[in-house]
Amino acid sequence: MHFCRRLFALTLTVAVLSGCAGMGQKDTGFKPVLRQSGKDVMWLPTSQDMVNKMLAAAQVTSKDIVYDLGAGDGVIPITAAQQFKARAVGIEYDAKLADFAQKNAQQAGVADMVKIIRGDIFVEDFSEATVVTMYLLPELNLQLRPTLLKMRPGTRIVANAFDMQEWTPDQTLSAGSEQGFMWIIPAQVEGEWDFLPHEGRVPARLSLQQSFQQVGGTLTMAGVSQPLLGAQLRGDQLSFHFLGSDKIAQSVTATVTAGALSGQHTSYGRAHPFQAQRR
Ligand SMILES: C[S@@+](CC[C@H](N)C(=O)[O-])C[C@H]1O[C@@H](n2cnc3c(N)ncnc32)[C@H](O)[C@@H]1O
Repeated sequence: MHFCRRLFALTLTVAVLSGCAGMGQKDTGFKPVLRQSGKDVMWLPTSQDMVNKMLAAAQVTSKDIVYDLGAGDGVIPITAAQQFKARAVGIEYDAKLADFAQKNAQQAGVADMVKIIRGDIFVEDFSEATVVTMYLLPELNLQLRPTLLKMRPGTRIVANAFDMQEWTPDQTLSAGSEQGFMWIIPAQVEGEWDFLPHEGRVPARLSLQQSFQQVGGTLTMAGVSQPLLGAQLRGDQLSFHFLGSDKIAQSVTATVTAGALSGQHTSYGRAHPFQAQRR
C-alpha cells in the first residue's frame, strides 16, 4: 500500500497506478514487481520522501544534470525534472524497466528533460553528471567509488541506504526508516604548493595531505613551519587558518584548478589576492 501511495504522489499517471487495486488503469503491458531481479541488484524503489530529500541535499537546480545509476521506474530522474527543473538521465539495465521508466517520464510530462538509457552503469559514461544518485548495494558503491572520485570537483553524489565505508559523507539524511548519504567530490590537492612571489610577501610553501575531503598540512614561511588550522575542502574550495608571526590568526580561501590555487589571504581584516602553483 505504501508503494502504491508513493507512485501516486510521483506521477499521478493512470499507467503507473495500474498496480494499485481499485484505481483507474491503463495497461502498459509491463508492471515491475517489487524485488524483481536486476543485473547486479534487484529493483526496489526509493520512497518519494527520500527522493525529495536526496535531491534537496544535493541542492539540485535547473543548471544540473542528474544521473540515476540503476533507474528502476524512473522516480529519481522524473522528480529531478518535475520538482527541481533539472535535466536527468537514468541508466537501467533491464530493458523493460528502462522502457517503463521512459514512459513514466512521458506521462509525467517531462519526457523532454528525462532520458532513460538502457545500459550498464559499469559501462555507460556518466562523467557529464553534476549530481549522481544511486540505490544499489554496499559493494557496488565501493566498485563505483574510484570512478566517482575522478568526477569534476563539486559533483554531488547521493546514495540511498548504503555508504562508502571510509569515505565519510558530507551529509546524512533520513526519511522514515530509510537513510541516505551525500558526498561532494573533492578536488585533488595533496602535495606541495608554492605561493607565487608578491611584493612585500614572505615566500611561503603549503604542504597538503588529503584523505577524500579531509585535508590537513603545514604552511612554511621564512623557514618556519606550522600546522594548518581548521583546513576544509568542499569541492574545489579550500580554506584554512594559520598564525602570523605575532600569533594572530590569518585566513586563506582558494579555488583549486588543475595545478593552481587562487584566492585570498586575509590578515588584519584586509584581503589580498594570491596564487600558488603545484611544485
Ligand atoms: C534498488 S533499484 C533502485 C531504483 C531507483 N534508482 C530508485 O532509487 O528508485 C536498483 C536498480 O538498478 C538496476 N540495475 C541493477 N544492476 C544494474 C546495472 N549493472 N546497470 C544498470 N542498472 C542496473 C535494477 O534493475 C534496479 O532497477
